Formats: sequence, structure tokens, C-alpha cells
Amino acid sequence: MKNLRIDPERLWDDLMDTARIGATSKGGICRLTLTDLDRQVRDWFKARAEALGCTVTVDDMGCMFARRPGQRDDIPPIGMGSHLDTQPTGGKFDGTLGVFAALEALRTLHLAGYETFAPIEVINWTNEEGSRFTPAMMASGVFAGVFERDWAAARADRGGETFGAALEAIGYRGPEKCGQHRLSAFFEVHIEQGPYLEAEARDIGVVTGVQAMRWYEATVTGQDTHAGTTPMPRRHDALLAAARMVEAVNAAALRRPTAVGTVGLLEVKPGSPNVVPGEVFFTIDLRDPDPAVLDAIANDIDEAAKQIAGGLGVGIAVKNIWTQPPQPFHPDCIAAVREGARVSGLSTRDMISGAGHDAAYIARVAPSAMIFVPCKDGISHNEAEYSSKEQCAAGAQVLLQAVLDYDRTLADRFGKA
Ligand code: GLV
Ligand code: MN
Ligand code: MN
Repeated sequence: MKNLRIDPERLWDDLMDTARIGATSKGGICRLTLTDLDRQVRDWFKARAEALGCTVTVDDMGCMFARRPGQRDDIPPIGMGSHLDTQPTGGKFDGTLGVFAALEALRTLHLAGYETFAPIEVINWTNEEGSRFTPAMMASGVFAGVFERDWAAARADRGGETFGAALEAIGYRGPEKCGQHRLSAFFEVHIEQGPYLEAEARDIGVVTGVQAMRWYEATVTGQDTHAGTTPMPRRHDALLAAARMVEAVNAAALRRPTAVGTVGLLEVKPGSPNVVPGEVFFTIDLRDPDPAVLDAIANDIDEAAKQIAGGLGVGIAVKNIWTQPPQPFHPDCIAAVREGARVSGLSTRDMISGAGHDAAYIARVAPSAMIFVPCKDGISHNEAEYSSKEQCAAGAQVLLQAVLDYDRTLADRFGKA
């Protein structure tokens, strides 16, 4: 199907049009999951998909499935998509590109009157970012049977509102049980969010898997005391301990050349200029392709916590809240992506994803793969995040070709109707 071409302008228009929903003054998007802004972009997506003749269904985690029938409607659909939620200072492309590249691929099929063998679906997974409700990739995790639906629904944001209540409030709790929706395969386009494709001037990253990730929540308990009257040796300063922990996380990751370690959230109590902080909550995000490296880093952090706590007379409790093993993608889907890039005349590079993605969970229940496109200076989770119209279009074109390639293998396997 060399002659089916997605339209770069239409894709760009969708990206820019929806970027107004939650637009920030610095050119990014703040559209936290299950907020009213999330509802608005969902409504937009639903209306556009229905205008293309799709039927949109929603599951009880709020995941949206826009379906275009195929010749054989008894065969599970080929899914393609990503997420529409963003980080607090998110860019215009993380997640949205995967949903709108999929919508554009589907629109191209629709306008060409091309009938696929299997049904095709565009999917919006709920709460990929894990910024408001931890952990990340929450709904795709429920879909894949990694998390219980009730556990996920009970997760609360820092203000105490639960995922379940927020989902009800925006009217996107659907009747379908999350995970019951079978897929023949899943493809996700995403910006690389790192520097390699741009540095090596490659058009497309053929993603062969996602690295291992772990999240921790830590609480330091010290003593609130008067900042003017408490002599330095008498203090049990929780923030000082937390600062030393931040340093320890950084040092532990730096000792392993492939690893990364981040403290991204810190809450200081009581939060007053003239009170020595008595309690600090903070998060730790660790990643490496090899889980054994993460074990070693976690060990170092444990040791550091003991020493820091002893030295300052505070308590430090570190709790692992999420462990994601490395996830390889399926050889058939990777081959379809490679073929999609080849017929599109685009250069490629194989790569492991440093970021987490819904495809990493969906890969547990359906053959999956991802397509990366370059982004400027490798910057993401930042309002300045940028991929050009041409780069976005290349991702959508490879997606279309990969899905058609996979559809042909399904047709060969199941026989024409
Ligand atoms: C998802 O954005 C991640 O944390 O990798
Ligand atoms: Mn993303
Ligand atoms: Mn992200």
C-alpha cells in the first residue's frame, strides 16, 4: 500500500487545535489526567472519531476506543494510540502525537475507502503520566492485569481526591470492564523524548523494548522546632535529611553508566520560614535496562538512608510503590514497523525506550511495538518540547504502513472472509 499517504497538515492541525486545551503561557500544555481539561480533549477526540464513522466505547478506567470496522468484525482490532493527559509543564507532543497520528492514519483509510481485514481502533489510555495519580501507565496497567481496578480507583492525588471520584466527575467511567477489550496488536507512535535520533539524523526509532523502572515514596520524620531558638546541634531537620537523600539518589545513579535516578517531587511540612521542617515527603524514580542495576542502586539508597537518619536523628521510610520490569516488544510488530519505515523511504535506528509507555503494559496482553520520531534537543516533559510537522508526519505514515502490514499478516493467518 505504497500510495496511501497521511496528510501532514491535518495531523498538525489536530495537534495544534487540541494544544489550546490546557495551553500554558510558555507554549506547552498542562492537562492533568481526569481534570475538566482532560474531559474537554476527550470530548474533542470523541466528536472527531465519530465524524469519521467510528463507534467510541469507554471502559471503567476511562480508556477510549474509537473503532473502524474491518472485513472480519469477529477478529480483535488492531489498536493504535497513546495518551491525552500531560505533565504539569508538558509539551504539545508527548502522548498527543500517538493519539492524533493514529486518528490521522484511520482518517486516511476512511477517506480512501480502504477496508482493512481486522477492525482498527484509535485508543486513548487514561493517566499515562502518573503525575496526578501515581503510578504512571495506570489504566494500561489495569488493562494488562498488572494492577487491580479497585486499587487504581482508590489512588488519591496530593489533595486527597481519588482516581475513581475524578473519573466519575468528568463523566468518563464507561460500562466496559477494563481489560476485557481484546486486541490483535497495538502500535504506539511517540516522540523519542531523548537525543539520539536527532543526533544521528535518523527519521524513525524502531523501538524494541522499554527499560526497567521503579518508583518509591519516602517520608522523612524529624521535629518541627523554632528556627530562631533551636541551636543547630539540637535540630532534627527533615529537609536537611531529604536534601542528603537527593544527593544520595543522584550519586547512586551516577555510579552506573546506563542508569538514571530522579527526585521529582518534594513536600515540606509545615512549610514556614521560621520553622525547622519536621516532615518531608519525596519521590524517587529509578530506571535502567537491567533490573539488577536497579537492585544495586536501591541497596545504596537504603544504606544512605540509614546513615543520614542516624546522623540527624530523624526517621526515613522508603517504600517501593511501583516496579516495572524491562519489556521487550513483539518481533512481528517490530518487523511491521521496520517494513513500514522501509516502504516509506525513511531511515531508522533500533532503540530501547528510556521513558515508560502504555505499549509496555499492552505488550503483556497483545503483540505490540512503538515508533519514535526525533524531538528537538531531546527535550521532553517540558513546555518547549518540539517535533516538526514533517517528523510527526513521518511517524504517522510509518504507523499507517505498519498497521496495514500487520493487517495483511492477520488476513493470511485467518483467511479472507
Ligand atoms: C512517562 O512519561 C514516564 O515517566 O516515562
Ligand atoms: Mn507519553
Ligand atoms: Mn510523559
